[in-house]
Amino acid sequence: MTAQILLPTAENIAVAADALQRGDVVAMPTETVYGLAGNAYDETALAKIFGVKERPTFDPLICHVPAVDDAQPDWLEHLQQWGLVNVAALAPLAQERMRLLMRTFWPGPVTFVLPKQPSVPDLATSGLPTVAVRSPRHPVAQALLRAVQRPLAAPSANRFGRISPTSANHVIAELGERIGYVLEGGECTVGIESTVLMVEPDGRVRLLRPGGLSPRAMAEATGVPILPPVVAPISGDTPIPSPGLLASHYAPRKPLTLLPGPLVALTAEQLQTLLSPTEAVPRLGLLRAAGSEEEALARLRVAKIDQQTVVLRTLSATGDLSESARSLFGALRALDDDPRVQAIWAEPVRDDGGLGYAINDRLRRASHR
Ligand code: TXA
Ligand code: MG
Repeated sequence: MTAQILLPTAENIAVAADALQRGDVVAMPTETVYGLAGNAYDETALAKIFGVKERPTFDPLICHVPAVDDAQPDWLEHLQQWGLVNVAALAPLAQERMRLLMRTFWPGPVTFVLPKQPSVPDLATSGLPTVAVRSPRHPVAQALLRAVQRPLAAPSANRFGRISPTSANHVIAELGERIGYVLEGGECTVGIESTVLMVEPDGRVRLLRPGGLSPRAMAEATGVPILPPVVAPISGDTPIPSPGLLASHYAPRKPLTLLPGPLVALTAEQLQTLLSPTEAVPRLGLLRAAGSEEEALARLRVAKIDQQTVVLRTLSATGDLSESARSLFGALRALDDDPRVQAIWAEPVRDDGGLGYAINDRLRRASHR
């Protein structure tokens, strides 16, 4: 049985909400990526999420909440009432900063990690004393959250370590045989996961995962300083500040190599060594960050590489980073599914410290073996 794609009508939202109330899991659209949702307070539903994704339980989930109607919502109060966040564990400065950041950017593509209330199941937080919370901006996610009236735990709706889904069909390709419903919400408008920020009880705010919102833009808009990540956890015995940040992630099945720079910055010799066909890789997929097809083909000619051996895909011809983020996972998936392609090479995008940094982070992890 393949999952049913439900158009987001009122009746279908009710069908999905009903399934969630019964402890089932449902894939829902958000503005970042599609999520695999389950009732955050139902251990059976949480266990299903981990099972369906084949996700290790040391990787905690994000709990999604509906938006508050008020013009000046007190999000912390809201999170307290939903039984998620222990507001009293936050010093006044932390509370003030949280209220400001949430009022400014929620609903939206940013997640906050905050001290949790004891009622949040350990399975949702991997036993951590903190819980990750987000109110997504997508109207279908909001309609579902309002209908269920419970926080929904939802990781990206892909098998563990694989490319995140940005359309209902991507979800079907990843989990179609394992779940009942996918709510249709169109193509995700952001296209990469939310930015995850850790809020220390004393009020320091730290980046854990780059994503859909630029930390610099957030700091500029609110005056709240956002500290850089501690160190990228790779492996070994060091404690992992954000357990989900594994070195290998978002990975296609085919090997992916990140080029050391844009095509135009590489010499003919470098291009030859990197892109020339070999017996093992007679044809490769080239994921370009920006620029025209003619420009790419001209570079290949300079390096004397036969264009027939290269399948091109460009994230954004004009180098627009929002467009690049939107097309990233779909383009990776298309090259991964293209039977002509044996291996994938990707150009890094322009690093603006925001979306560009987040996209390169995904490409780096996709390339890690
Ligand atoms: O955009 C998104 O965030 C999407 C949509 C569906 O909302 N969700 C998503 O979930 O990307 P997931 O499970 O793929 O990534 C959640 C990550 C974890 O891997 C972990 O790095 C971090 O959030 N996280 C969650 N809870 C945490 C906690 N208590 N402490 C530190 N990091 C946490
Ligand atoms: Mg994920």
